[in-house]
Amino acid sequence: MTTVLKLGGSVLTEKERAETVDEAALERAADALAAADDRLVVVHGGGSFGHHHAAAHGVSESAGTRDDGAIRAIHGAMTRLNAAVIEALAGVGVPAVPVHPFSGIRRSADGALDPTTAHVGTMLEEGLVPVLHGDVVAHEGAGATILSGDELVVVLAGALSADRVGVCSTTPGVYDADGNVIDRVGSFEAVAEAVGDSDATDVTGGMAGKVRALLSLDAPASVFGLGDLPAFVDGGEPGTRIE
Ligand code: IPE
Repeated sequence: MTTVLKLGGSVLTEKERAETVDEAALERAADALAAADDRLVVVHGGGSFGHHHAAAHGVSESAGTRDDGAIRAIHGAMTRLNAAVIEALAGVGVPAVPVHPFSGIRRSADGALDPTTAHVGTMLEEGLVPVLHGDVVAHEGAGATILSGDELVVVLAGALSADRVGVCSTTPGVYDADGNVIDRVGSFEAVAEAVGDSDATDVTGGMAGKVRALLSLDAPASVFGLGDLPAFVDGGEPGTRIE
């Protein structure tokens, strides 16, 4: 059983304070993952590490930069958050190892991702827990653009034939227009009005982008909050199921 799990950047960081880890949340997430017995790939988002730098340099999934300093600033911030996540996981006995997408994934001119993932598969086979993150990636004809953790989840779930996907977010699931968590989402049209557009400080698409990305997967996905992470790790389907 292979599980791809995204830990939202807003869950792990204090999104309004630049480069600040929410230590209590990270510890809760790490404790939950310590109980996992599936093959596990972890992807984390940017939160206050990635988005501030990306916005400051005007970089998004489609707007690129050739400013090498901007690329280092965004990538560097993400590797610092990655190191904090790895340390927390290793501290509770999870065999976590870092994988930096900038070094193995590119976008071709049409914006499609051209990933190298064989090393991630081998890490899984060898009993390791690869921990990837949203990042900048070289983009043919556009310099470098942002790769969101959500895009990465889709790429990895496909390449590794994942059996299940989890997205741990700041909300307990996908809300309907009345603010209630929806049990199951089968099409974007059904929730388009409720999920709306992205948050102002999120350069990669908020809940609408997540739902679209997860609907495109073969594997079933669940969107849930941090309090439900232990239930998901235990094989449950908390929050909203997207399939
Ligand atoms: C964003 O990744 C990465 C960068 C801005 C470099 P995500 O879009 O997956 O991050 P969160 O989970 O929304 O914070």
